[in-house]
Amino acid sequence: MCGIVGYTGPQSASVPLIAGLKRLEYRGYDSAGIALGTAGKLFVEKKAGKLSNLESALDSSLPSVHSGIGHTRWATHGGPTDQNAHPHLDNEGKLAVIHNGIIENYTELRIALEAKGHKFSSQTDTESVAHLLSDLRKEHQGDLTKAMRDAVKVLRGSFTLLAIHADKPEEIVGVRRNSPLVVGVGTGENFMASDVSAFIEYTKQAIELGQDEIVTMDPTSVVITDLDGKTIKPKTYEISWDATAAEKGGFSHFMLKEIFEQPKAVADTLIGRLSDNNQILLDELHMSKQEIQSLKKITVIACGTAYHAGLVAKYAIEKWAKIPVEVEIASEFRYRDPIIDSTTLVIAISQSGETMDTLMAVRHAKSAGARVLAICNTNSSTIPRESDAVLYTHAGPEIAVASTKALLTQIIAVYLIGLHLAQANGSLSDQQVHEIYNELLELPGKIEQILETVEPLRELTRKFAKNDTVLFLGRNIGYPVALEGALKLKELAYIHAEGFAGGELKHGPIALIDQGTPVIAILPAGKEHALDEKMLSNIQEVKARGARVIVIAEEGVVVEGAEHVITIPVVRPIFQPILATVPLQVFAYEMAVARGNDVDQPRNLAKSVTVE
Ligand code: F6R
Repeated sequence: MCGIVGYTGPQSASVPLIAGLKRLEYRGYDSAGIALGTAGKLFVEKKAGKLSNLESALDSSLPSVHSGIGHTRWATHGGPTDQNAHPHLDNEGKLAVIHNGIIENYTELRIALEAKGHKFSSQTDTESVAHLLSDLRKEHQGDLTKAMRDAVKVLRGSFTLLAIHADKPEEIVGVRRNSPLVVGVGTGENFMASDVSAFIEYTKQAIELGQDEIVTMDPTSVVITDLDGKTIKPKTYEISWDATAAEKGGFSHFMLKEIFEQPKAVADTLIGRLSDNNQILLDELHMSKQEIQSLKKITVIACGTAYHAGLVAKYAIEKWAKIPVEVEIASEFRYRDPIIDSTTLVIAISQSGETMDTLMAVRHAKSAGARVLAICNTNSSTIPRESDAVLYTHAGPEIAVASTKALLTQIIAVYLIGLHLAQANGSLSDQQVHEIYNELLELPGKIEQILETVEPLRELTRKFAKNDTVLFLGRNIGYPVALEGALKLKELAYIHAEGFAGGELKHGPIALIDQGTPVIAILPAGKEHALDEKMLSNIQEVKARGARVIVIAEEGVVVEGAEHVITIPVVRPIFQPILATVPLQVFAYEMAVARGNDVDQPRNLAKSVTVE
């Protein structure tokens, strides 16, 4: 939700700012803008629509200056127009602000500021901050850091803010509350951004920031202070991936690249997790055997695709560790008096580590005394920082808005947790764990196999491009796969797609089946699986009502009546989501391409959902 970047140093600032915005555009693409720190008066350009509109507007007119801020927007308050695009300015045009998040008390601020004579030119919540900072800066004799400190004390909501003033253009001041901000420390130049991808091509040294910490940077210094003005020692870390990880690498879209990166992402997440004496190594959980044995239940909280990884967790953890697991959509969790206490382990799953719904659920769980374990793909993001423990997935940067490789690694993480808990509980022997882990290690090769044979599926998909409804059926561990297949299709192809548990079909959804309705059925893994026959009956039921059926089934399974069977390698049934999800990702991708949609930046969405 909005990408933010700031630069100060020897380069012509528009170069790193535009490069950074390109990498952050996945966070929002309703409008984009920059403010450059020309002395005396800022140079500002902003345009509705994608970053390319801003770039065209900048072509001839750019001054070569050495500091500035840039923004790419996912609209909340005020439509996606040029006027509502960031940066927002004070009335003198000397102070510019960019913002990610929501200022909840903006109406009262606006009324008070208008009463003092400030003239507003947008419908945004952000503009009130520009006017407020302008007044506060004057009160502090031109000290923007002090002004920001006082502003933050009156602002409510979630925000990352960056500000620049024309009287001291080499200085940029930033702050974060419940929204992401990282500092990139270069040689004679410094950066601030929503995430490290914005500056990774210039530096690998980053500083993580805590809540309400204020950063003041110029080309040679970065000073972090708290709300009382006390200096805070920077927590520096080295970014472990390089710039090429955030580029398309010859693929037509990030999503396709990320689908093809899945074997590696899964392998990297599994690496080094079994000791020589067959113990699952998850030291980062920080839980003793006794603590695990005293757990009464596990609650998984997550949103969207990550929620589907949570559903898989229920099947795996209950099966192996015999601990009851409930899975809840994070945005619902804290509004229903959930029964949790110190005997509950709450697992929060989030690729970005910034999803506000999940973060709020984490806080709620912690305040109720539960221990919170995060599964996260983004180092030093807010959710892991606020959790008691974190298990990082190693998917690498996921740029496409639709999540693919992150999901598979989240599922691997829940398998590892399930095995670890089972070992502590004694519900699986070391030998069993050894066997299961070895089978996990075979998954990257099996995903590879699927990816080598997706061409016919891509061709088949194109035949369905004009359909406006696709239904997905699954049972047992295939049910979350069906939900994920439908979610991917909705967000990418913009069509009606629903995932159902096969058994529910006759309780209503079967009425949706009409002549030619495509139904994708995920046949349960394991030939002896009792549910196999039930799903085969479901296939016949929908076929009898005119559906065109595509089946995802293990090699060697014969399915009658299917128009097309997509085969996936044989695996332990509980591992099936890792394989069965992949063709569905390809299906959704290809549908989006065939319908002429923007695959990497689907309409109305943003990668990191930092509002509730
Ligand atoms: C769907 C998708 C979203 C995210 C959800 C949670 O493809 O990407 O549904 O899974 O917004 O995001 P994180 O995992 O960052 O908390």
